[in-house]
Amino acid sequence: MGMADYSYQSLSNMGPQGRWRRVLFIAMIPMAIALIYYSYPHNYMPGGFKSSQYPHTQNVTLDADDITMPTIIKALYGPILHPVDAANFTDEDGDIYRLHGEAKFKEKLGKKVLILDIDSRPLTGEGQLMNPDLKWKGMRPLSAGMLSHYMFAQIHGYDYKFIRAPDYADRWGTWVKVPMMKEALKTHEYIVFMDSDVMFHYPHLPLEWLMNYWNMTDDTLAMMSIDPNEPQNYDEKGNRYLNTGFVIARQSKRTQEMYKAWAECPSETKYQGCARWKLDWAHEQAAFGNYLRYDYDRPDDIRVLPCVEANGAPEAANRGGCKGVFVRHFWVDKGLVAKNLADQVMQYFLPRLHQLYLSTASDHIVDAKSFRLEGADLIEMTEAEKEALAKEQGKNQKDEGF
Ligand SMILES: *[C@@H]1O[C@H](CO)[C@@H](O)[C@H](O)[C@H]1NC(C)=O
Ligand SMILES: *[C@@H]1O[C@H](CO)[C@@H](O)[C@H](O)[C@H]1NC(C)=O
Ligand SMILES: *[C@@H]1O[C@H](CO)[C@@H](O)[C@H](O)[C@H]1NC(C)=O
Repeated sequence: MGMADYSYQSLSNMGPQGRWRRVLFIAMIPMAIALIYYSYPHNYMPGGFKSSQYPHTQNVTLDADDITMPTIIKALYGPILHPVDAANFTDEDGDIYRLHGEAKFKEKLGKKVLILDIDSRPLTGEGQLMNPDLKWKGMRPLSAGMLSHYMFAQIHGYDYKFIRAPDYADRWGTWVKVPMMKEALKTHEYIVFMDSDVMFHYPHLPLEWLMNYWNMTDDTLAMMSIDPNEPQNYDEKGNRYLNTGFVIARQSKRTQEMYKAWAECPSETKYQGCARWKLDWAHEQAAFGNYLRYDYDRPDDIRVLPCVEANGAPEAANRGGCKGVFVRHFWVDKGLVAKNLADQVMQYFLPRLHQLYLSTASDHIVDAKSFRLEGADLIEMTEAEKEALAKEQGKNQKDEGF
């Protein structure tokens, strides 16, 4: 193998950094030529590095000259989109989730789905979404959440809207999401409303799959997760609240009725005592929990999602096991929202980068293990020396240490 002769004279004149750069530079030219010669893996290549193929489930074609952001998103997520009707899904911990029966949704719903952000605040401050100078550093949590929702819609071809909502004169701000969801359900068959501290943990897993898994039916009005088993999360009848920070709702006449009754709840024409929830915590969530859920209680009306799957985060697992397997809700720590937006990119970017690194290893991994170091010099070892060395490997190294 060809590394020995051309580089050693000069090694003694260089510092450690320069020496390696110089070795690489000088060695690369003949190596490149050699690699063209030998189509089989060259013996200088360490044998153990085989890149695994990142599992592709879809064929995606991209225009080679198109570097727009939608194409970048498509390039990263397109090939690995989970099929909407897959029988199962394996999460990052290796846990397997299986559909309970035949998939209801076998085709993508596309623009029939609306991913919805609602906010009545201007959000133009430092680090906020509507500020044109938003940067990763100093980004506020809500910006990360809403950008994550937008990205999810982009990945799957769903519609996305941010509704700048008017305020109620006499109610807490979060109440506005009720009439706004009601409006959105006039234009879209399915809406997914998320508070800005809520996000899907696997952006390549489509909503259709989750609706299959969570048994969405034609009679379902809405799906919401149950809150953790803690005293403040119980309604007056002793049932645990459903969390209104994540709602999948389905268009129907009955859904419109339910949202109307919900939005009008504090007027007390129908629900005595509801006015209290205009300003008292948990606001519209308490109104839903104390009144609406008992009126809309046909078996399929409200699908209650398990807290472990659709609420909380791993950091909140000690709060009733709500670790947010599919949908994370960062009430435990808003500081985690931006980190999880990074996860949503890095869990896909990293395997691709790593695959590239290993699959092109012959271009950049230099094996100098058959030499021994003596002062500033690299000296090719004899077979006997190599054998002796194998016996005491790693003596002056530690795992990932320096
Ligand atoms: C991608 O295209 C190839 C060639 O047409 C085909 O053999 C393969 O099954 C396709 N894969 C998927 C996931 O559609
Ligand atoms: C998941 O489903 C696919 C078919 O869609 C099947 O081939 C695979 O074996 C299943 N995996 C597990 C772990 O059940
Ligand atoms: C969906 O249906 C299956 C089977 O009946 C049941 O085990 C599961 O708990 C249901 N999921 C939800 C979210 O209701």
